[in-house]
Amino acid sequence: MTTDSAIQDVVFSEEAIHERVRELGREISSAYSAEDRLVVIGVLKGSFLFMADLVRVIEIPHGIDFLMASSYGDSMVSRGEVALLHDPKTDLEGRAVLLVEDIVDTGTTLSVLLPHLEERGASRVDVVALLHKRLTSGLVEPRWVGFDAPNSFLVGYGLDHAETFRHLPYIASL
Ligand code: IMP
Ligand code: MG
Repeated sequence: MTTDSAIQDVVFSEEAIHERVRELGREISSAYSAEDRLVVIGVLKGSFLFMADLVRVIEIPHGIDFLMASSYGDSMVSRGEVALLHDPKTDLEGRAVLLVEDIVDTGTTLSVLLPHLEERGASRVDVVALLHKRLTSGLVEPRWVGFDAPNSFLVGYGLDHAETFRHLPYIASL
């Protein structure tokens, strides 16, 4: 059972996501070299499917790790505070970090995570976000964006509402 009566529209199909992730993989692969000692860090839990698909199309050798930041909980709006719940164990000193986010909304999460990863000694930190709602102040912009997202609450392909719908292979609006 992969559908629910609360889901309104499929916004990005499984095929569209697959195609865009392959393009992102090509762009990212051409932006790094082996000397960058790239480490790809996924923001749990929302990025887990995107991360799994993306790393399989990045052709530069890279490490994999995850971090966890506090989420919206059951709410559909940002509380404006972000706590780091899990810090990557990987030594980031002198390494290029690619942070993998499911969706950027207000940019609050990134504005906390980026300085933290820089303090951990990363030589550079870039962000790839599958979705971007473009509601940010513009201070923290991802280097790569999969899709511009409508300003509705989205679920599926990792994104949840109150921990439901993460497993959907497509992205839909509630
Ligand atoms: P920001 O800190 O306001 O940029 O929000 C980013 C985080 O909020 C994302 O990593 C998601 O976990 C969550 N989020 C924002 N918009 C949505 C949405 O439409 N659906 C599900 N989660 C969302
Ligand atoms: Mg998230």
